[in-house]
Parts: sequence; structure tokens; C-alpha cells
Amino acid sequence: MAFAGFGKTQIRYDMFDIVRNAEEAKRLIKCERIYHRGQELAWDGRDVLAELIAAHGGVKVDPAKADAVKRIFAIIMWGELAAWKISAQLADLLVPLESKMAATSQAHDEARHFYVMHDYLLQLGYLPERMDRAPQALLDLVLETDNPLYKLLGMQLMIETLALTIFQTVRELEVEPVLTELMKYYERDEARHVGLGMQYVPSLIAQCNKRELARLMAFQARILFWALWELKVLAPDFATLGIEPREVLERGRRKQLAAFQAASEALGVLVERERNPVAMVLNGAVELLFPAPEERDLGVLGTFETAWKAFWRRDQRVEDRELGVHASHAIRTARGVDPGEL
Ligand SMILES: [Fe+2]
Ligand SMILES: [Fe+2]
Repeated sequence: MAFAGFGKTQIRYDMFDIVRNAEEAKRLIKCERIYHRGQELAWDGRDVLAELIAAHGGVKVDPAKADAVKRIFAIIMWGELAAWKISAQLADLLVPLESKMAATSQAHDEARHFYVMHDYLLQLGYLPERMDRAPQALLDLVLETDNPLYKLLGMQLMIETLALTIFQTVRELEVEPVLTELMKYYERDEARHVGLGMQYVPSLIAQCNKRELARLMAFQARILFWALWELKVLAPDFATLGIEPREVLERGRRKQLAAFQAASEALGVLVERERNPVAMVLNGAVELLFPAPEERDLGVLGTFETAWKAFWRRDQRVEDRELGVHASHAIRTARGVDPGEL
């Protein structure tokens, strides 16, 4: 406890000198850049939403698809609130200046994502209500841990890659014109947030011993369990929009893999040679829960055989483009039009 300037203080005087090596210093410079890019690319949510609504003559969605859009994006809206809270927690928890800056800039972005999504859903006549149990449990896991590594891995590398997957898929399908345009703005921001995870998770993992790493994998498995359940809950709504849930899952998996590869390569681990037990279980679970169309009539034994093969499948290296696509959209920021990064 601090008293009259004596004793323990919350001011971390060591925040400038905990860099362990040149490679980490480079990653921290990238974190600092995330903060400054966030400032350069900040867009005014009120203006952008109002302009898009005016340009398209209102929010016009096929009545057969309106409820599905509302249900999927209500979860996204509460997810943005959770991301806002989690990035604010990280802004406090992370010690090195550059990572703290990146988390702080993310909290600003997530506040914008939350109110813009809320205002958009109001246009559809949505009244905020409690979510289904699966997405709630998924977000609670990351909200309630006080371990910054668990928070970063759960939010920035796992939940945000899943959100990016949904944003990209809905944008490509052009479900509703205002939403299609809005997704580009969200993707630009979320890509930076995944960047914070890729740059700073390696520093925290490097401090873990084997037992802590095993616990981290157990946490990762719990997140995957609830994420898969959430996708199962949303499957009928995805189907209404013409989205194949398995494709969402495959794309999400590729994005997560791309983020994990970037993080683990910083630690000098070659992904192709490493077998991550969580990835193996996920590969198997995908086959059981979301069999491919040609494998749906295989019966119980056939499905288990496919799952077993998937369990032992080695993951290939994922193209950098998997995450790069989100930074390529042109958006109108408060400073003018930004053409996107190619
Ligand atoms: Fe967000
Ligand atoms: Fe985010």
C-alpha cells in the first residue's frame, strides 16, 4: 500500500527498461506505431454512418434476412463493448510504454465500434437485449482473467480474428449496402488490434515456464470450445444470409493461424514443425461439428474417421495476405481519405 509517497506505488518507473533484446525492441516500436496509426486513421463514427445512410437512402435489408443480421450483429455489438473493456484493462495492465499506448488507442477504437454498431442496429429496429449463453461465456472468460497474456491471446489473437472473419464474409456477400461499407472501417481498425497481439504476445510467452504454457493452452481450448458453440448457435442465421458456417470456421482458422505464426516466429519457433495440441483438437472438432457437404452422409463412424484424420493433419504456413486484406480498404478518416495499405 502507498502512504505519503512511501511503500509500493502503481507508477511503474521500470516501464522504459524492461526490453530484453533487439528483436523485442523492434516489436515494441511496431506497438508504438499502432497507437500513432490509430490516431491518423481515426474516423468520425457519427459522420461516416450518417453519410452512408444518406448515400444509400437508409438501411435497406431484405426482410427475410433482417432478423439474422440483427442476431449476428447484436453479438458483435456486445463483443465491441467487451473489446472496449478488455483493451482498457490492458491499457492499465501492460507495463512497457509502447504496448500500453497500443492498448489505449484500441480502447478508443472499440468505443467507436460499439456506438456505431448500436446506432446502426437501431436503424434496423433492434432493441438491446441479453445475448445467448455461448458468446457471453466466451467474452466472460477473457473479461474475467487478470492475466494480460490470457487477455491478449483470447481477445487480440482469437476473438478479433473471428470477428474479422465475420466482417469480411458479410462484406463480400453485400448483405446490406450500409453494413458492407461499414465493415471496411471496422476491418481497418481490428487489423491493428490483432497487430498488438502479434507484436506483444511473444514477449509475455517468453516469460512463461512449461507449466504456465500448458495452462495457457487449456485456456485457449476453453475459448475455442465456446467459439465453436457460438458458431453452432449462429449457424441458422449464417445459412439465412447464404454463409456456410464451415467456411467461416476455415477462414477464421486460417486467420488465427496467420496471427499465431507471426507471434511464434518472433520466438524462433517454426510452426510447421510444432504440433500444437489445441490446433489438433480444433481440427478434429471442426469435422465433428461442421462436416463438409460431401462428408455429411458418412454416418457416425465415417465422421469420426474424418475427424481422426483431421486431428493428425499438419497445418501449412498461411499466406500473410490472410490478415493483410483488412488493411487494404480505402476509408474516410477525420483527416481525409486514406487509400489503404497494399
Ligand atoms: Fe472492434
Ligand atoms: Fe478490436
